[in-house]
Amino acid sequence: MKFSDLPQPRALPFSGHLQRWGGAPLALIEEGARLGPLFGLNLGLNTVVGYSPAWNKRLLSDLTAFRSAGSFSAVVPYLAGGIILTDAPGHAPRRQQLNPGFGKQHLDTLQDRLRSALSAHNARFLKSEFDALAWADGAVLSMLNAAYFSGDFPAELLHAFLAPLRSPFPTPAWPRPLLFARVDAELRRLAERRLHGGGDDLLALLARLPGGVREARISLAAGHDTTTHTLAWAAWALAEHPEWHAPQTHKAVIKELLRLYPPGWMGSRRLSEDTEFGGVTLPKGALALYSPYLSGRDPALWERPGEFRPQRWLKGFKPPAWSYLPFGGGERLCLGMHLAHLMLDLALASLPPLRAVRGDPTPRPGVTLGPAGPLVVRAG
Ligand code: HEM
Repeated sequence: MKFSDLPQPRALPFSGHLQRWGGAPLALIEEGARLGPLFGLNLGLNTVVGYSPAWNKRLLSDLTAFRSAGSFSAVVPYLAGGIILTDAPGHAPRRQQLNPGFGKQHLDTLQDRLRSALSAHNARFLKSEFDALAWADGAVLSMLNAAYFSGDFPAELLHAFLAPLRSPFPTPAWPRPLLFARVDAELRRLAERRLHGGGDDLLALLARLPGGVREARISLAAGHDTTTHTLAWAAWALAEHPEWHAPQTHKAVIKELLRLYPPGWMGSRRLSEDTEFGGVTLPKGALALYSPYLSGRDPALWERPGEFRPQRWLKGFKPPAWSYLPFGGGERLCLGMHLAHLMLDLALASLPPLRAVRGDPTPRPGVTLGPAGPLVVRAG
């Protein structure tokens, strides 16, 4: 079968699927998913979207055919570079250099710093009524500052740098040369201090690698709104379902929210060669997408997929391989997965009992999927 024979959701005259993608991409991909496990889109480029475990495994394991160069990340200056756009064969050795800093063992040594940054943020922020989305934003910003820089990075500059990522497109795609130059200058200054004076935070480890300062900037951008959105949804869920607000059930809540609302709702690659999959020939140059959002809601894989049911994760439940991918998978598995879990665990444990007051948790897709907000909750 040819690529052009793939089923496609309804397209508009002249613009193909571009306009629907820009306006309501979740409805568009949900319509596509109802047509079959592999469907086509016309986004100006031939685009193929899949969500079956077999497709996820192929796209995430075949790093020769499925390349990151030319993917969606390449058009977002925040993400365009470093490990995110490094393809095979350079990718695996680069990850070996980066992994130790982001591994559990090293992160354990930073825990106290994250904890005190979080309590300082909570002391300033937690009032009887507050917006859980704004709280999560500041909590993640302070914990990232603690993990990367032991809190040394000017908080306002970090906020100014990362805030545009949470705006709808095209804002995150605009070039911001002056802002990036200020951030890079500050990163270089702090890196120099660590190279001469020592240190054990993430920047101290990255500073020793060629291109490490750039990796710091890019991974901060990859880690901020992804974790913020998960944390905001989790705080809102705990306010709506207070019976789940207990240390022993927080992990199940996080897993369930990452299934329903994976911030990385769509991962993209470009095909470097004509590629066969499931009897279809996918042409070189096509955009190939996998969707943790669609895989996490596939009725063939999940019981009552649309419902918030953290209990499905209790008692050691393991989903089928390659079906649950909030952190991607294979060699390109999220570099910050352990750091994200650490920040989420610490932050949820720091929250008092909550009640939902008013809010709009509707998922809004941008660079990442996030709740529309605000999410106003009451403590106590
Ligand atoms: C809940 C929080 C997070 C979620 C849901 C998430 C999700 C993801 C996903 C789905 C990918 C794979 C993308 C792909 O296949 O194209 C990824 C990669 C990545 N993430 Fe995360 N992420 C989170 C937090 C973080 C944090 C805290 C960092 C900070 C270090 C981070 C840094 C990265 C980097 C650098 C990559 C690229 C890895 C590579 O290509 O080798 N992420 N993340």
